[in-house]
Formats: sequence, C-alpha cells, structure tokens
Amino acid sequence: MSERTVALVTGANKGIGYEIAAGLGALGWRVGVGARDEGRREAAVATLRAAGVDAFGVPLDVTDDASVTAAAHLLEERAGGLDVLVNNAGVTGGMPQQPGGADVATVRAAVEVNVIGVVRVIEATLPLLRRSASPRIVNMSSGVGSLARQSASAGEQQTGPLSVAYAPSKSMLNAVTIQYARALADTNILVNAACPGFTATDLNGFRGVRTPQQGAAVAIRLATLPDDGPTGGFFEDAGVVPW
Ligand SMILES: NC(=O)c1ccc[n+]([C@@H]2O[C@H](COP(=O)([O-])OP(=O)(O)OC[C@H]3O[C@@H](n4cnc5c(N)ncnc54)[C@H](OP(=O)(O)O)[C@@H]3O)[C@@H](O)[C@H]2O)c1
Repeated sequence: MSERTVALVTGANKGIGYEIAAGLGALGWRVGVGARDEGRREAAVATLRAAGVDAFGVPLDVTDDASVTAAAHLLEERAGGLDVLVNNAGVTGGMPQQPGGADVATVRAAVEVNVIGVVRVIEATLPLLRRSASPRIVNMSSGVGSLARQSASAGEQQTGPLSVAYAPSKSMLNAVTIQYARALADTNILVNAACPGFTATDLNGFRGVRTPQQGAAVAIRLATLPDDGPTGGFFEDAGVVPW
C-alpha cells in the first residue's frame, strides 16, 4: 500500500463525481478517475492533472463484470491498493417513470447502475479496502431515496418528482449501504450514504440549484471521516437524512 491515500471515484468524468475527485485530489490524495468513456475519462484526468491533482484514469463501466474486475486490478498495480471508494456513478434510468405510466426498462436501467453497479464495485474492491489503514466507502444516494421523505405529506419534507425507477433505486442503495455497514461493523471500514442536494448537472438538465462543487462537499466529508466517525448513516450538508 502506498503511503498516500488512494481513492476511486466512479463516474468522475463530469458533474458531482468530477468535483469529488478534484476535492480529494486537493488533499494530496491519489485519485482514480473511474469513467466508462475513454475520451471523457482522459479529458477529465488531463484537467485534474493540470490543476495539480495526482489523477489517473480507471476504465470503468459499473454494469460490466469484466470492466469492474479489471479496474480493481488496475488499482492494485497502479496505486498499490485502495483506501477510499466513492460510488458516485448514477443514472435516472430515463423516462417515463411516473407510477401509472412507467416503462419497466427505466426501472431496470436505474437499478442496474445505481444499485447493482455499486454492489459489483464494492465486492471487487473490498479485498483492497480491507488492507487499508482507514478505509471508507461512500455511496452517492439522494434524498429522493428517503422513504420518510417519499411518504411525507405534501408541504413537509416530501420529495419529488414521482418515480418508480430513480427514487426507489436510491432507497435500495440506502438499504445496501446499511447491509454493508452491518457486515463490516467489526472492521475499520466506514460505510455511509450521501445526498448532494439538487445540483445542476447533466442528470437533471442542469435544473439543479447547487453547484457540482457544493454537491461534492458531503461526499468529501464522508470520504475523510476520522476513524471514530459514523458508519451506516445517511447524510447531507445539513446533517442526518431520515431513512
Ligand atoms: N444532480 C443532482 O441533483 C443529484 C441529486 C441527488 C443525487 N445525485 C447523485 O449524484 C451522483 C452523480 O450525479 P450527477 O448529478 O453528477 O450526474 P451526471 O453529471 O450525469 O454524472 C453521472 C456520472 O455517472 C457516470 N455513469 C453513468 N452510468 C455509468 C456506468 N454504467 N458506469 C460508469 N459510470 C457511469 C456518468 O458517465 P458518462 O459521462 O459516461 O455518462 C457520469 O460520469 C449520481 O449517483 C446521482 O444519482 C445527483
């Protein structure tokens, strides 16, 4: 294991993931830029390196077993291991996805990336994380995945829009987060979920009200938790998000 902290950020070629990579890089960490498209990946790596970040490209499609296995090998060879995994890659799954008019393909697409992709990447990298002195896993969820907020009466903390693909996929990701935190409770691996807030990115046609840098802040905080920090939690900038 190298002496410098090594992080992998999935979906780091743009949006919130890019800013997470930039923020962790600014701490002096080595940052693997996980991205599925070679051109977008290398462009992001070049921009990060020009800004002084020790970034390297990690070819990574979270829906593909071989790609994820190869990414874990690359981390081992190139960086000597992995300390911090940020599962940021995510998709809406497409449209339509409102109850009563949904296309099941959107549900499948959202779950494939937002849930199964995260499980696939965690399983492949867990052997590396177990060797780290202070390993962290951060799963980029969303407040729309909160069952408490989904079921709140209008006007309270209710989140929208109605969806049977994206929002439930993040609810399942939250459950996955709890399951890994429980399983790893007797290790030094801290596992938490994050909500970046409504952020202006491709995901929402740039309708979000926060900057990608603001959206990245909570993930950076969870990636840099002290050893006695929380595990099995769900956080946004303002504090704990109800499950
Ligand atoms: N924006 C918001 O308001 C908001 C709110 C709550 C939660 N989030 C969550 O924040 C995370 C980042 O989203 P964002 O807003 O920054 O969206 P974004 O700009 O669309 O970025 C999504 C990233 O995920 C990557 N990705 C998608 N499918 C992938 C796959 N199969 N394998 C590897 N990478 C894949 C994309 O790569 P390509 O460029 O190749 O497509 C891109 O790098 C997501 O998990 C999202 O659900 C966002």
